[in-house]
Amino acid sequence: MKEIYIDDLTGCYNRRFLYYWIENEIKRATRFVTKFALILLDMDDFRDINNKFGHSEGDKVLIEFSSFLQTSIREVDILVRYGGDEFIILMPNTDEKGMIELAQRILTNLKEIKIINYQILCSIGFAVFPDDGTTPETLIDQADSLMYQAKKEGKSRIGLKQEIVKKLQIPSPVTIGRDDESNWCLDQLQNYNTIFIAGEAGIGKTRLAFEIKARLKTPILLKGNAYAALSSVPYHPFKNMFNELINKDFGLIQRVFKQMPEIYQSEIKKILPAERVVRIAQPESLDKYRLYNSVSEFMNRISEIFSPDKTILLIDDLHWADRPSCELLDFLMRSITSNIKILGTYRVEEIKNSPLSDFWGIWAREKLYTQMTLSPLNKTQSDQLLEAIMGVVSASNSWPKTAAISKYLFISGSRNFSFLFIVSSIELGIITSRLSANTHSFPFQ
Ligand SMILES: Nc1ncnc2c1ncn2[C@@H]1O[C@H](COP(=O)(O)OP(=O)(O)O)[C@@H](O)[C@H]1O
Ligand SMILES: [Mg+2]
Repeated sequence: MKEIYIDDLTGCYNRRFLYYWIENEIKRATRFVTKFALILLDMDDFRDINNKFGHSEGDKVLIEFSSFLQTSIREVDILVRYGGDEFIILMPNTDEKGMIELAQRILTNLKEIKIINYQILCSIGFAVFPDDGTTPETLIDQADSLMYQAKKEGKSRIGLKQEIVKKLQIPSPVTIGRDDESNWCLDQLQNYNTIFIAGEAGIGKTRLAFEIKARLKTPILLKGNAYAALSSVPYHPFKNMFNELINKDFGLIQRVFKQMPEIYQSEIKKILPAERVVRIAQPESLDKYRLYNSVSEFMNRISEIFSPDKTILLIDDLHWADRPSCELLDFLMRSITSNIKILGTYRVEEIKNSPLSDFWGIWAREKLYTQMTLSPLNKTQSDQLLEAIMGVVSASNSWPKTAAISKYLFISGSRNFSFLFIVSSIELGIITSRLSANTHSFPFQ
């Protein structure tokens, strides 16, 4: 290899080669759809050796350390002296698991040997292409920041990322606050069969619905989700609901079906998910009212089997519901037996353009529903929520203190809203867990 790529002191590759290699490897890994990993190692307290025993002794340690690393890596791996006492191991065709194995082996072996006469330890950061970045800079940046994380946590370790993700308890195992809201709903359910829960995205509407379910101790929750992308697909929240039921207990659905008049069965089949139930050969056109009656009948029957006492039908994110679904909902609100309670959630800011807005007036006049608008948790409650989600983590010091996060959210305005929004985005996969865990890019820092 040309000398311009070699580190004078240790004979490993140098920084210039590092960039050359990563750029090429990115092209290769992209073409062959593979991963590669890099490990950044920084010796712990190397400065002490230089200070106490002089630079030439320091240099000997560096040489010896680099040959220790050289013997630790595979033949295909490449050792680079990144600068001073920092080294990088480049691992082609390697994912996070393989990379962590090597990093851990290095840490363990270092503890068992002496480098010249010294006990040398090091702190480790890493990055995997393309999971952690797709340019040399972002990859090295992440490795660097995780290495720094390792130092902060007490050195001689790997700066963690995955562990943080695992320790984040999302969704929060306990519901914080919402006592008044839940009780209010339970109380209202004695007079109303339908409650709408309104509020901003991420404020806790769905969570409240589940809390109500828990407090009612109902074993089943018929849940249909409306989606923005499907807002023109007729009956999609109900299709979604049937789909969930079928996935949960196909046998049960069949049993309920068999009890129903055939004419109802064939009506519902028209809106059932195609994959699981054979459709009738030549679908006749949908008879709206017969369909409404069929769905209503289906719900009555399923609630009789499961929990004759009380069942909840939750239609989530109603602001995205299509018009036929709104009409069906209208029918159910009027016709369903009173042991079935309907909960609907919607975002205030989105409801104006939804077909649902045509129904409010009539429903209000007929007193068919009641509703509540959720407000954000208060400061103490949001702190409790942070603790519930991150408690385990803050104990290990590997995560910025909740207070710091709290402060960030406070500065950013509606703190509770932003927090819940981020949490639900992680849940939905809009923000990836990598982003959430990567201390470098996580917005809380
Ligand atoms: N009171 C609460 N206690 C604990 N976690 C909550 C609470 N409210 C919301 N969350 C959590 O915050 C996230 C967003 O709440 P979610 O109910 O999905 O919001 P929305 O339905 O209003 O968009 C979820 O992870 C949820 O579990
Ligand atoms: Mg929701």
